[in-house]
Amino acid sequence: MAVLKILTYPENSLSQPSVKVDNTNKAGIDDEIKKLIGNMGETMFNAPGVGLAAPQIGVNKRIIVYDSNAENTDDDNSKQEFTALINPEIIASSGSIVSEKEACLSVVDYSADVKRYEKVTVKALNIEGEKLEFDAQGILAVIMQHEIDHLDGILFIDRISLLKRTMYKKKLAKKLNEQ
Ligand code: NI
Repeated sequence: MAVLKILTYPENSLSQPSVKVDNTNKAGIDDEIKKLIGNMGETMFNAPGVGLAAPQIGVNKRIIVYDSNAENTDDDNSKQEFTALINPEIIASSGSIVSEKEACLSVVDYSADVKRYEKVTVKALNIEGEKLEFDAQGILAVIMQHEIDHLDGILFIDRISLLKRTMYKKKLAKKLNEQ
């Protein structure tokens, strides 16, 4: 497995919608995709982060990984297990929460409060190509919304006020100019 380079805003692949992974012949997920998923998990823990979507490593396919223990509040970092979802979709949502200081490995040196659904129902395929469906709440619901947004070319800075987004872009432009 390998740690991959995480692309950062305004890299093109981050704003592009991703395509579904083909599983029409029900042959399961091929070795190339499984290898990619393994690398994504390693890259996420190396960052470190709690979620990563394929467009963040320049692959515009509908694949996300997240820390299986993201909901645990104890500081036990020894359990590095991740879950992969292929072609994930939010099929139901309810409630409203503010995700405080939401951040992204692709948006450097910035965090902001983002309004999110409190509860979502996610439908996806697992790494074996089997269908699954589950409810997520709280932090897991936020991770699902954040990562699935990536697959539609949406970053959390697209979900904050225009004023805040403009300020972030100015700050970034200044920083890039100084390099
Ligand atoms: Ni992100």
